[in-house]
Amino acid sequence: MVRTEYYKDLTKMNTFGMKVKARCFIEYDSVADLVDVEFEELARPVLHIGGGSNLLFTDDFKGTILHSKINFIEVLDECKDTSANETVLVSVGAGVVFDEFCDWAAKEGFWGVENLSYIPGEVGASAVQNIGAYGVEVKDVIRKVYCYDTIDEEFVNFDVEDLEYGYRDSAFKDPEVKGRYIVTHVVFALSREPQPKLDYGHLKEAVETAAAGKDITPGIIRKTIIKIRKEKLPEPSVMGSAGSFFKNPVITAEHFARIEAAAKAEHGADVKVPHYDLPDGTVKVPAAWMIEQCGWKGKRSGGAAVYDKQPLVIVNYTGEAYPEEIIGLERRIIASVKSKFDVVLHPEVDHI
Ligand code: EPU
Repeated sequence: MVRTEYYKDLTKMNTFGMKVKARCFIEYDSVADLVDVEFEELARPVLHIGGGSNLLFTDDFKGTILHSKINFIEVLDECKDTSANETVLVSVGAGVVFDEFCDWAAKEGFWGVENLSYIPGEVGASAVQNIGAYGVEVKDVIRKVYCYDTIDEEFVNFDVEDLEYGYRDSAFKDPEVKGRYIVTHVVFALSREPQPKLDYGHLKEAVETAAAGKDITPGIIRKTIIKIRKEKLPEPSVMGSAGSFFKNPVITAEHFARIEAAAKAEHGADVKVPHYDLPDGTVKVPAAWMIEQCGWKGKRSGGAAVYDKQPLVIVNYTGEAYPEEIIGLERRIIASVKSKFDVVLHPEVDHI
């Protein structure tokens, strides 16, 4: 079924909690429903949203918002024989809440998405944004992405190798095709064999403590990750945000050496600047560290604030923040990080 509403209040459809409206809002329940939508006729611009967890509405939306309620999780027939297959291919509808899929996988004892537990958002958007956390990106477990092509009006599918996945990036975000393909469902390759990925930060110690000598399961990892996330990140139902507001910047080794030397001059020779050396010789530096060094952690500005436990997150502190207040804070953070470190931060959050 396809439902259409006009002047729809989007407050509950964006985790930032921006009080905006959409001129037209269309929600559909099945893959087949998409064929009934007259894409040519829709009020423009057209935007397909998922859980609204990675966007900032800067104003009322003048066009059409689409939202999928395609809700199924199905093990593909050829993988149902538990003795014959280590890999389990699972087809998941774009409208499934990603964490519900993680919960289902953990309960089935399937490995692959446990590190991605508790990330807000839906399955369709996860394949566009290449969500990631604790050393795993969703591209690591995606096998195929099924879409509806709104221009040629046909169903198409892409192998993971063709989707140019990168850090919070995919071919779907290419300006040439942005908005053309609507993800209907995603096939994930999970595993029946243990595949714990525990190299990120102190995850291994935390999981071993939680396991207390017993075998590590996807469920134990999931529980540990949820605990860590709850300690560090705001609960969207309590305080609006879109998770990490900025991407972690990647800089040259020389640039990093300058930042490290300046930090040692400022704080003493023992200071450790967090960083990850990448295979190509560049260095990823946590934006959270830079923002904290610039004094922003916990700072408020009108209804907006920099989250006190993770400064990479901008929050709708009062629940009444205006988009302008969030954007004002964003600009000032970018300016101070540029001035102190000569690094330009780029938002991860889409500005609509
Ligand atoms: N840090 C500080 N001060 C803080 C918090 C962190 O200096 O108050 C530094 C620490 O050195 C810490 C480092 O930042 O070791 C990394 O922090 P964290 O592990 O929290 O990860 P992150 O790089 O800040 C990324 C993702 C998160 C994901 C976490 C865990 C991006 C933009 N963000 O954050 O994703 O949950 O890793 O894997 O890559 C999201 O995308 O919405 C999101 C929350």
